[in-house]
Amino acid sequence: MSKKQSDKKMKNKNKKGKAKKEKMEASADFDKYYYYRNSVQSPDTDVVFLRDTYKEITGKKPKVLREDFCGTFSICCEWAKLHSDHEAIGVDLDPEPIKYGMENYLPLLKEGPRSRVNVYQKDVLDKKLPAADVVAALNFSYSLFKDRDTLRQYFKNCQKTLNKDGVFVCDIFGGSQCYEPNEEETEHVDKGFSYFWDQDSWDPVTNEAMFYIHFKRKGEKKREKVFTYDWRMWSIPELREIMMEAGFSKTFVYWEGTTDDGEGDGDFKQVESGEDCESWVSYIAAMK
Ligand SMILES: C[S@@+](CC[C@H](N)C(=O)[O-])C[C@H]1O[C@@H](n2cnc3c(N)ncnc32)[C@H](O)[C@@H]1O
Repeated sequence: MSKKQSDKKMKNKNKKGKAKKEKMEASADFDKYYYYRNSVQSPDTDVVFLRDTYKEITGKKPKVLREDFCGTFSICCEWAKLHSDHEAIGVDLDPEPIKYGMENYLPLLKEGPRSRVNVYQKDVLDKKLPAADVVAALNFSYSLFKDRDTLRQYFKNCQKTLNKDGVFVCDIFGGSQCYEPNEEETEHVDKGFSYFWDQDSWDPVTNEAMFYIHFKRKGEKKREKVFTYDWRMWSIPELREIMMEAGFSKTFVYWEGTTDDGEGDGDFKQVESGEDCESWVSYIAAMK
């Protein structure tokens, strides 16, 4: 059994027209979104994958991306930067990360891309969400829907609010390691902190699992449970079946390639079957 580990896995106002410089160093205050971004987010590669996946499936170029469960909407910002035709829509229930993105990420954009990002504080189950060519639900956020009916309702809403030829994309993780409590530390020596992905529990009867993210800055006490995720572990076939029940016409699984030493190589390709790993991350794309 190989061990495949993608770095993507969580277990990883300024003057008009002028973009601020990206924040390179953490502030003395504990900024949980700074550490989160530097541990688990890779929005610049996510947007390339989303664009290429839409192109591969439809043969066309996408314009409008909706980032559901957007949090600090970093993917929206990268999408708007990627091409001058791109528009991005972020949707999240929580005003706190939205405010953070408005204060820390949006001002980094030049006026053009900045004018093409719109964020809504709404429920992803809201039936009147703006239409898009690509809807992305990344970092496994749909896992908070623990019953099939609610998850189907969410997928149905995505299917209905996609434009003609629209594509929905979500990620999923799994592997034998996900079926036992374990905590994994990733040291960011250059940035002076450690990130901990803590799977606290897994219930074989319900497939529910509790996860936490902890951080420890060099020379400081470990900060426990900075982020908490109370999720159901869905499987790839379950998600594909529910997507089809929700009205999608076809689904595709993107599986990561493996390096010679058994690690994930970051290159995701359409597959019909996968391989047994201790730990894997994959994507599912569904065509309207
Ligand atoms: C795991 S975080 C993901 C944030 C971001 N997508 C990322 O990749 O880092 C989940 C986000 O989903 C939001 N959320 C939870 N339930 C929601 C719902 N029903 N509608 C919209 N947003 C929701 C939370 O506020 C939180 O910001």
